[in-house]
Amino acid sequence: MAVRETVAFDLEKIDRLIEEEEAELEPKHRASLEYRKTAERHVAGGVASSWQDSPPHAIYVDRGQGNRLYDIDGNEYIDFHLGYGAMVVGHAHPKIVEAIEQAARRGTHFAQPTRDLDVIGENLADRFRLPLWRFCNSGTEATLEAVRLMRANTGRDMIVKIEGTYHGHHDSLMFSVAPDPEKIGPREHPVTLPQAMGLPQAFADLVRVVPFNDLGEARRAFEEREGEIAGMIVEPAMMNCGVIMPEPGYLQGLKDLCHEHGAYLAFDEVKTGATIAYGGAVEVFGVVPDIICLAKAIGGGTPCGAIGATEELFGPVVRGEYDMAGTFNGNPLTMAASRAALTEVLTKDAYEGFGVIDAKMKEGLRAVIETHDLPAYVTGVGAKGSVIYSETPVREYRDALGVDERITYLAWLFQQNRGVFKSPWSKQETWTLSVWHTEADAQRYIDNFAEFAAAVTS
Ligand SMILES: Cc1ncc(COP(=O)(O)O)c(C=O)c1O
Repeated sequence: MAVRETVAFDLEKIDRLIEEEEAELEPKHRASLEYRKTAERHVAGGVASSWQDSPPHAIYVDRGQGNRLYDIDGNEYIDFHLGYGAMVVGHAHPKIVEAIEQAARRGTHFAQPTRDLDVIGENLADRFRLPLWRFCNSGTEATLEAVRLMRANTGRDMIVKIEGTYHGHHDSLMFSVAPDPEKIGPREHPVTLPQAMGLPQAFADLVRVVPFNDLGEARRAFEEREGEIAGMIVEPAMMNCGVIMPEPGYLQGLKDLCHEHGAYLAFDEVKTGATIAYGGAVEVFGVVPDIICLAKAIGGGTPCGAIGATEELFGPVVRGEYDMAGTFNGNPLTMAASRAALTEVLTKDAYEGFGVIDAKMKEGLRAVIETHDLPAYVTGVGAKGSVIYSETPVREYRDALGVDERITYLAWLFQQNRGVFKSPWSKQETWTLSVWHTEADAQRYIDNFAEFAAAVTS
């Protein structure tokens, strides 16, 4: 295979360009900067979630429509952030708005089951090939229940997770999400590092971290902790170091390994589910795990979550021995939006549409990378993709550490200054497509990227 000659990034030039782009951006966000001061008086940090505040500053949103987002300064953007990938239905989709309006008129909360349950359960069972489902309110809740289900069914406490993945902000899994390279320890025994203050060491002691895409290291973990591991949770394609695809055989290998050791495999499909294909990672990679965690896209933009599992795993719940509870589980607004999203918007045709735009994005971005000899490549599938600023393939978190964050920040600034809203740059976030995105939107992204590429290589 011919080796492509690339131009190394000049970080001094990148620093200069960052200064120029930040200076251009700041005056466009006067209202956001001002509003933050007001919000900060009684809201900690002036934002609702710490990850809504990323450099250069929090951007406050006024509204969204289809593929467009409008901030409180009145700037219009093509939205590729889409609420961290939740809004593949696009903003204010008429079918979702109608479903929520109708549900709201009939009462917004009962804490009793309603008659959307069977339709949604059946739809998820069809997409993800697991027979039983329960609902919750976020990805965090879905992975919390996944961990607990695996523990409940094995009587064991240890969980294996992948270095560099995020599964939500509960105490069982918020470890080694973006661990400090100085502290991560050897690859064969990564240190389980807390991602937030206040996480007890006792919880860290129950989490064994392993690198992605390495069956041998996963096997080592199971052999070293024989009989102690309840299960493993994995994002089937890693989505917060750009998009990292699983290597052929890896996911099936994990499932076999878990079962060999009397443990279970859970897929965290909070980001991949209902975005990368109709049947998410299960469809794309052809492996059905024991448990699937969903959230984001399945709720049509409402706070949502779902957990699917085998009948065996759900046995204790069905028999009433395990209380899988939540006041707002199955909330009628969420259920109505979810039903409309899954059955009327995110139909099989929608995924064909994502495929068309995805192909356009990839083709255009690859051409720019080649024209400018950038040490980068394009990856992704369906409604999710990203440019990874590395010459060699990134297979796991430690490979991604080689990418200087200033490059991804500058790429983000170039898009933001030119009318494209991307998710925060710091974790090499992916782009997300909605059913409203057009080839012209893809072209705008590509054109902005071409300006970035020309600027960094000129
Ligand atoms: C893979 C994955 N799992 C779980 C979560 C947590 O979801 P939530 O923010 O809805 O709690 C996220 C959030 O980004 C995620 O990306």
